[in-house]
Amino acid sequence: MAEEKKIITVFKGDGIGPEITDAVLEILDAAGAGLEYEMFNVGEAEYEAHGELIPEAGFRSFEKTGVLLKSPITTPVGKGFRSLNVMLRKKYDLYANIRPAKSNAAVKTPFKNVDLVIFRENTEDLYAGVEEMIDKDTAHSIKIITRRCSERIIRDAFEYALSQGRKKVTCIHKANIMKLSDGMFRDIFYETAKNYPDVEADDKIVDNAAMQMVMHPEQFDIMVMPNLYGDILSDLSSGLIGGLGLLPSANLGKGYAMFEAVHGSAPDIAGKGIANPTAFLWSACMMLEHMGERDCAKKIRTAVDEVLLEGKHLTPDLGGSASTKEYVGEITAKLR
Ligand code: NAI
Repeated sequence: MAEEKKIITVFKGDGIGPEITDAVLEILDAAGAGLEYEMFNVGEAEYEAHGELIPEAGFRSFEKTGVLLKSPITTPVGKGFRSLNVMLRKKYDLYANIRPAKSNAAVKTPFKNVDLVIFRENTEDLYAGVEEMIDKDTAHSIKIITRRCSERIIRDAFEYALSQGRKKVTCIHKANIMKLSDGMFRDIFYETAKNYPDVEADDKIVDNAAMQMVMHPEQFDIMVMPNLYGDILSDLSSGLIGGLGLLPSANLGKGYAMFEAVHGSAPDIAGKGIANPTAFLWSACMMLEHMGERDCAKKIRTAVDEVLLEGKHLTPDLGGSASTKEYVGEITAKLR
């Protein structure tokens, strides 16, 4: 009897979203991932066409499958609808945003030895969206840090360090200024660290951490931090390894998991057929690993590494001139 296919939910998104989604699904199929896709158009374009940012059936599908592969969505700046990404993370309590940044021998950068994983708290901090105008010239934005949300992301970071044989967890904060909110986050970090005597624990103030990351990135292993610092430092970490086209992420909660590239919808290159699908593909590999399909993820990672190392078919962001299609063709040729 044929093996039953696992079903996942796929959101196609805006800008380069549809292009990189098609690319990634083609590679998953070529690798024999054996997945069935429930696919939905979401985001700005879907809103303009049908008046909904995410169709109701899309939510229902994710609630059934528990696994969402989501391509980027455009968020209007300063006005318009609130970020769908923030909404999805809050609605499904996808509290742990895990972003691994690792140097790749094939991608030339000033650094060869970056191998860090950012654990970004995903549901609170300034992203709680609690904002108000006090008067016409004064806006308040409230930073929320709770013990419950801090404890769970910090514990996950230490558990991950243990399970992956990592040596150190660094807490990133600004507790010298925000003594109550970030101060509590840092205190909880050291309370939690006592349960993990085999993992080294230290902390850095966020501005110093930003400087240290570009001077000596090799000193960082696992880094755990509140939402806003995680957002900024993870883009920084993508710069260390060759750009946003290379940084994947998992957003994990209890019973739900969403996988997406760290980058956005890249409107400046949308429709040109030159987007780099690697970050989204590696996010799909994290998804396969989460689903227990480690061999398939490894097969894809090996094929990508080979194509990157050969260096003949790289997309423009990596210094090449290949189209997304050519790059994907090279990867699928190695998988078939
Ligand atoms: P962006 O990440 O879309 O683009 C920044 C720069 O990186 C651009 O020059 C772009 O061409 C390049 N880039 C990004 N991904 C690339 C890829 N895969 N291949 C090659 N080049 C790539 O950031 P930006 O321009 O600030 O945001 C655009 C939109 O995306 C905004 O509406 C923003 O809110 C949204 N966004 C959505 C996210 C999500 O859905 N998870 C995350 C970040 C931003």
